[in-house]
Amino acid sequence: MTDTQTWTGSPEPAADPRAALQQLPVEVGKAVVGQQAVVTGLVIALLCRGHVLLEGVPGVAKTLTVRALSAALHLRTTRVQFTPDLMPGDVTGSLVYDARTAEFSFREGPVFTNLLLADEINRTPPKTQASLLEAMEERQVSVDGTPRPLPDPFIVAATQNPVEYEGTYTLPEAQLDRFLLKLTMPLPERDAEVEVLARHAAGFDPRDLEAAGVRRVAGPDDLRAGREAVARVQVDRQVLAYVVDLARATRVSPSLSLGVSPRGSTALLQTARAWAWLTGRDYVTPDDVKAMARATLRHRVRLRPEAELEGVSVESVLDSVLAATPVPR
Ligand SMILES: Nc1ncnc2c1ncn2[C@@H]1O[C@H](COP(=O)(O)OP(=O)(O)O)[C@@H](O)[C@H]1O
Ligand SMILES: [Mg+2]
Repeated sequence: MTDTQTWTGSPEPAADPRAALQQLPVEVGKAVVGQQAVVTGLVIALLCRGHVLLEGVPGVAKTLTVRALSAALHLRTTRVQFTPDLMPGDVTGSLVYDARTAEFSFREGPVFTNLLLADEINRTPPKTQASLLEAMEERQVSVDGTPRPLPDPFIVAATQNPVEYEGTYTLPEAQLDRFLLKLTMPLPERDAEVEVLARHAAGFDPRDLEAAGVRRVAGPDDLRAGREAVARVQVDRQVLAYVVDLARATRVSPSLSLGVSPRGSTALLQTARAWAWLTGRDYVTPDDVKAMARATLRHRVRLRPEAELEGVSVESVLDSVLAATPVPR
């Protein structure tokens, strides 16, 4: 199952792209109560051109958040429900025969979008997962030997069905490492849930974002300008060493059987730079690294079974690593 949300016209770039992007959590907040950290995480991912794992039980507004963000950013968004019978061509597109011209032509699949919500990727067999992961990595699709570039931006927000039942195909670690961030969407607090209900009681319709007051406050040009600015953000060698020390600490943690790879430490550097820029600075502080560490590293480590039995969690291990690693001054 696939559905797409598109916008017409192309918006003017903002005079101040950072200020425009900073408005996004407020704008999405007109539809989604709370969950602002996820909105910021998705903006960081768009600035870094990285993909995201979105974790949360059904019904915590994963879909609504992605749709509202796309509306506020004027991005095309497509949702694909991954199922056991989905074929690679259903994701990437395929050649179809046109009887009128007696030729084959390429019909674009749902990856030809800006923000792809890939729901329950672990319900589809490895071959179809591989076609998505390849498109994520290469930002293009090759069918019949012809490479076709995907739009810019193109990022995937993937959810995994948390219920392990027969016929799920858990992504191996090597593939989890390809996601820049893992963002978690918790159940709302009591007050937040009352606010959700109050909005529904007042007539909020999650399918009508315009009626909810969500306006376009930024666009793809602001993301592009932001990306260029992020590339100019300065990082002191001491801060680079701090990122490396955090990664190394995960590799020697007695609770972990797999620590963060250099791909992971590179990812942390990248997200910390984007976060520094988004919050108004042109240099990275150790606090920027700390702010992004959990979301960037949590899916790149594996707990030892013994630690898991003792009730240790990945979050608690990362907390200890952050507390124990000396911070440069
Ligand atoms: N934090 C929230 N703010 C506003 N509405 C919410 C929130 N959480 C849940 N909802 C309501 O629940 C519905 C289900 O959300 P949905 O985005 O489909 O969840 P998911 O994709 O996580 O399964 C939303 O359309 C909305 O009506
Ligand atoms: Mg959903």
